Amino acid sequence: MADLIDIEKKALKELQEVKNKDNLESLRIKYLGRKGELTLVLRSLKDLPEGERKKMGAKANQVKEKLQQAIDEKFLEFGQESKIDIDITRPGHKAKRGRIHPLTLVERDIRRIFLSLNFSVIEGPELETEFYNFDALNLPDWHPAREAWDTYWIKDGKKDKDKLLLRTHTSPVQVRFMEQHKPPFQIIVPGRVFRYEATDATHEDDFYQFEGLMVGKDINMAHFKYVITKFFEEFFKGQEIEFRFRPSYFPFVEPGIEVDVRFKGGEWLEMLGAGMVHPHVFEAAHYNPREYQGFAFGVGIDRLAMIKYKIPDVRLSYSGDLRFINQF
Ligand code: DAH
Repeated sequence: MADLIDIEKKALKELQEVKNKDNLESLRIKYLGRKGELTLVLRSLKDLPEGERKKMGAKANQVKEKLQQAIDEKFLEFGQESKIDIDITRPGHKAKRGRIHPLTLVERDIRRIFLSLNFSVIEGPELETEFYNFDALNLPDWHPAREAWDTYWIKDGKKDKDKLLLRTHTSPVQVRFMEQHKPPFQIIVPGRVFRYEATDATHEDDFYQFEGLMVGKDINMAHFKYVITKFFEEFFKGQEIEFRFRPSYFPFVEPGIEVDVRFKGGEWLEMLGAGMVHPHVFEAAHYNPREYQGFAFGVGIDRLAMIKYKIPDVRLSYSGDLRFINQF
């Protein structure tokens, strides 16, 4: 017992005299380390007879706690002073920077280029009615071409043309916009679209498109060719590209075409669908088709990103995998 009291006194006295962290650590080891003076006392307790062991044990633990606390406090004191001894030769921490998702990069490019061509950027609802997604686009419910758009229907009890669905393309915003505006105008509509289909390396059931629409008097296919060529030349700036305009079919345009692009020495890549706005679409928006003409087009943003950045699988874009995103 006398030993214990001695140790306590001695340790606290030495603690008063400690000048720096290193001394403090030595002191801690001297008393509380694995072979420290106090530790040895604590260890020897087991050899004492029971009555004594209890008394000694209680005192020893009390001393240990007191000493530990005094040392901790001293460490804190030194810690506050240690501001002045920052080791400036130590390697720094690398700051983690966020990256911009490739789909965002592509969408920003699209907006920038079309704004420079005097287009406006418009958005529309992702939850759409059957009317805007299909009927107004010259796709009445009996139309076999509806099968080209596998649809997520919403079960909410609404009937007929008000039936709700997740839009299968950005085209419905054409009619929504025309109902509210008079020509001439030129817009693009970037946005999220949904298809009820199985996914694979080139198909997602939830992806992005942008629609283009230019309407005025005497707008014709040559205007479209100019706009779309300018867009791709700017989008793939620095690469030599060729274009191919092929006849195609979409119910909301007449004539309908598809546009392919080829990089020097490469294969033709299908880029988009387009055409001259069908008179039935103008009628759905209460325009007189004899008064106005226009062109429309629809492009897959995911596909543009895949081609521009050589992404082998669309699903990577939605994987949330930082090893993918950190490359951009
Ligand atoms: N909406 C079509 C689709 O998702 C793409 C499209 C084709 C849009 C031709 C157009 C167009 O505006 O004229 O497959």
